[in-house]
Amino acid sequence: MAELIDGKKVAEEVLAECVQEIAELKERGIVPGLAVVLVGEDPASQVYVNSKARKCGELGIYSEKIVLAEDSTQEEVLATVRRLNEDPAIHGILVQSPPPPQINEEEIVRAIDPAKDVDGFHPENVAKLALEDPSGFVPCTPAGCMRLIKAAGVETSGAEAVVVGRSMIVGKPMALLLMARGSDATVTVAHSRTRDLAAVCRRADLLVAAVGIPEFIQADFIKEGATVIDVGINRVEDASTKRGYRLCGDVAYEEVAAKAGAITPVPGGVGPMTIAMLMKNTIKAARGAS
Ligand code: GUN
Repeated sequence: MAELIDGKKVAEEVLAECVQEIAELKERGIVPGLAVVLVGEDPASQVYVNSKARKCGELGIYSEKIVLAEDSTQEEVLATVRRLNEDPAIHGILVQSPPPPQINEEEIVRAIDPAKDVDGFHPENVAKLALEDPSGFVPCTPAGCMRLIKAAGVETSGAEAVVVGRSMIVGKPMALLLMARGSDATVTVAHSRTRDLAAVCRRADLLVAAVGIPEFIQADFIKEGATVIDVGINRVEDASTKRGYRLCGDVAYEEVAAKAGAITPVPGGVGPMTIAMLMKNTIKAARGAS
């Protein structure tokens, strides 16, 4: 049975570091500030945005939650971003993804001041990640995965890592982090067009699942003893629960845990790490602005 990688516990360690760093900044008269922009009413996005704002409150980070109507125009969202770019109380700006279909997300991301881009989605920060330039912002979810992998004591150097998913939010930056100097994994990025995906995944000493399909990764995808990082947070209907749904990952947990060496649960794995790394990035942005 696999060892459980406890994301809640590791996130608490990261947040304890944040508390210390925020206290140091406040001694210098700087209160880190984060603006979280939500366009529309997607229920999952509302949950994420609220938990980001709540975590700021707990840590003493100033936060603004800006909710724009579902039918907002591109210009309205751009105007909000430009206002926040100029606001000295705001060090980090995050526009929750995905926005409604009328919004061109790429243009919104490019409008964010790269020095306030705590999501690490701006092309300047994507380039810095590829260049291994530590002055950039690393996207929070893959940064959180790396921290979990380190905390679990998993050797990445020379290891076969397979990332399933090629999104700009998780898959691509995850692959860059795993192959970077210091991590030194041999990285394969698999996706929906990959031939014989199960066989590719079975090569992995370290498997990162970021496909967004509930319980897609099954036991026959897993090499005995592999480390499995499950990035998926999927809502599946479940009439027996109060909310009418339950959360599950991209990994069929029970059968994979029986074969893996170590695994992250959902919830309580990567999710809490994403928020913790967002707090870290906001502190880094506040430091950079001083
Ligand atoms: N949607 C899912 N994950 C993320 C994230 O890390 N940042 C933003 N802005 N939107 C998301």
